[in-house]
Amino acid sequence: MIERSFKADFPTENITEGAVKLLVPKLKAFVTSPSEYAPSKAPVFYNPVMELNRDVAVLALQAYQRRVNHEITVCEPLASGGFRGTRFAAEVEGVRKVIMNDINERAVHMAKHNVSVNRLDRKAVVKNKDANLLLSSYAAPRKRFDAIDIDPFGSPVPYIDSAVRAIRDNGLLALTATDMAPLCGVHPKACIRKYGGKPLRTEYCHELAIRLLAGCLATMAAKHEIGTEIVFTHNVEHYIRVYATMRYGAKKTDEALKNMGYILHCFKCFHRENWAGLSVIEHQDKCSECNSKLSVAGPLWIGKLVDADFCKLMDEENSERRFKNKEKIKKTLDLAKSEVDAPVSYYVVDRLCDTMNLPVPSVKKVAEALREEGYYAVLTQFNPKGIKTNASAETIKRALQKALFQG
Ligand SMILES: C[S@@+](CC[C@H](N)C(=O)[O-])C[C@H]1O[C@@H](n2cnc3c(N)ncnc32)[C@H](O)[C@@H]1O
Ligand SMILES: [Zn+2]
Repeated sequence: MIERSFKADFPTENITEGAVKLLVPKLKAFVTSPSEYAPSKAPVFYNPVMELNRDVAVLALQAYQRRVNHEITVCEPLASGGFRGTRFAAEVEGVRKVIMNDINERAVHMAKHNVSVNRLDRKAVVKNKDANLLLSSYAAPRKRFDAIDIDPFGSPVPYIDSAVRAIRDNGLLALTATDMAPLCGVHPKACIRKYGGKPLRTEYCHELAIRLLAGCLATMAAKHEIGTEIVFTHNVEHYIRVYATMRYGAKKTDEALKNMGYILHCFKCFHRENWAGLSVIEHQDKCSECNSKLSVAGPLWIGKLVDADFCKLMDEENSERRFKNKEKIKKTLDLAKSEVDAPVSYYVVDRLCDTMNLPVPSVKKVAEALREEGYYAVLTQFNPKGIKTNASAETIKRALQKALFQG
C-alpha cells in the first residue's frame, strides 16, 4: 500500500497497456535529439514499442497455462518497472504468483507501485537482486518456477544457465535477444563467443538468429540433462523471441539434440541445404547447383520453430482479447501456423529479382507458381517478401519469371 503514494524523482506518466494501468517514465522528457534512443535515456528502462512483445508473452503464458491446466508461478528476473510482470499477474488466468526483480532500485519502486495500483499485491512480489542470484535461490526442486521470462538488454545468454536450473520439469522458458548485429552476422566473432554458433549475413538472417538462440538454449540445457522443445518463436525488426518448454531427462535431451545441425548456403546462386547432427561436418563444401564454395552457419537449431497446437491456443487467446496489436499478432500467428512444416530458411523475392535485374512480382503469385509445379511453398512470418519452399533456387527464379509474365 505504501508504494501507491510513490513519487518518482524523474518525469513519469500514466498509461494503459493490455488490461493494466502503468506508471512509466515520460520518455519525451529524456531525449535531447531525435536520433537518441529514448528508452535507455530514462532512469528506468521502458520501451513502448515492446508492447507487442509483452502482448505475445501474455498469450504464450496463457496458452501454456491452458495446456498444463494447473496454477502456475512465474518469474521475470529483469523486470524494469514491472510492465510485463504486472500484466502476467492481471491478464493470465491461473497465475498463482509472479516474482518480478530488477537490479535497478528505481525500477523496483516503480514496479511495486504498478503492482499496487493494479491491486495485485497478493499475487505479485518485486525483488531487488542480481537476476542470476535471484534465479539461483529458486533452483531447489520444490522452489522452481513454471515459467520464466528473460527480457534483458542485448543477449539473454548470461541468464540461461540459471534460468534452466530454476525451471520446473515441463516449464516454459521465454527469451528475448536484441543483439541482432552479432546474431545476424555483422559481428560473427561475438556471435560465436556468446551463442556458440556461426552466423551468416544472409537475407534470412533473422530466422538464423532465432535458430542460433534456440540452439544455444538446447545445448546449454543439455548439460543439465534437460531437453528443449520449441513451442513458439517470432521476430520483430530489432529483436527475436524464443519460447520453449523444458523437459527433464536424458532421453528428452537426446531427442532435443537431434534438432541441432548446420545450414549450408551458397552466396552465388542462393542454394542452401541442412546438415543434421553436431558431429564434425563432412559435408560437400561445393554447391550442388553451381559448384561455388558453400558457407556454413551453426551449429544451430534446424528443427521446428513453432508447435502448431501451441500456436492455435495462442490464436484462440488473441481472439478473446482487445490488444492494440491484435491484428498484427493474428497475422503472425496465422503465418507461423502455416509454416510449421516448412523447410529451413526462406528466399526473399526482392533479392532474387535484384540479381536477375527483374521487377518484383507479388510474393503470393510466386508461391502459387511454385505450388502449381507441385512444390511446397508458403509465405513466412519472418519477412513479408519471403517464401519457404522445397524448390531449388533455379526453380524459384523460373517461378519468378512466370509470376511476372502472368501478371
Ligand atoms: C530490457 S529491460 C527489461 C524490460 C522489461 N522486461 C519490459 O518488458 O518492459 C532490462 C532490465 O534488466 C535490468 N538488469 C540489468 N542487469 C541486471 C541484473 N544483472 N540483474 C537484474 N536486473 C538487471 C535493467 O535494470 C533493466 O531494467
Ligand atoms: Zn551455388
